[in-house]
Amino acid sequence: MSRPLSSGREITIEPHEFIISKTDTNGRITYCNEIFINISGYSEKELLGKAHNLVRHPDMPKGIFKLLWQKIQAKEEIFAYVKNLSKDGSHYWVFANVTASLDTLGNVIGYYSVRIKPNQQAIESISTLYREMIQIEQREGVDGSMRYLNTLLDEKGVCYDAFVIALQG
Ligand SMILES: Cc1cc2nc3c(=O)[nH]c(=O)nc-3n(C[C@H](O)[C@H](O)[C@H](O)COP(=O)(O)O)c2cc1C
Repeated sequence: MSRPLSSGREITIEPHEFIISKTDTNGRITYCNEIFINISGYSEKELLGKAHNLVRHPDMPKGIFKLLWQKIQAKEEIFAYVKNLSKDGSHYWVFANVTASLDTLGNVIGYYSVRIKPNQQAIESISTLYREMIQIEQREGVDGSMRYLNTLLDEKGVCYDAFVIALQG
């Protein structure tokens, strides 16, 4: 399946909408709710079994996903602002929480994500941050953008989750 080109058209999420997906341990989609299906523009059949980067938007820095995977593989939750790409090229911003699902022995058996409508003001500052991170990635790779993010968080004296939760308000 070829990747859609971003049309610049934005889909706004309603305050009551929860966009949910589950993956296996490799990030392949095993479940998505009806709202996810509708917003993504793909059919359930097109989504199930696919890598979750099917909805990845090119404006998202690699560093955010590196952080996401580091955290969830360590069984820690992460909150993050994510810009996603729909099948028709539209995009939608979400405030996402991603967690590992564990079996009774504590082994990771998959991952779970719930997304809600983001704070609009937060998206304005996050868009600037993500643009800066992408520019750094073009020069220095993902390690450079993560160093930049960590320095910024150190200056603020917060971790990434606390930073985005404060932005969400
Ligand atoms: C439960 C779960 C939900 C995810 N949700 C998204 C998502 O909504 N959008 C996205 O671009 N990546 C999401 N990811 C991350 C993707 O697996 C992937 O790391 C990301 O799209 C970057 O793709 P790439 O590593 O091929 O560059 C999710 C991962 C997991 C485990």
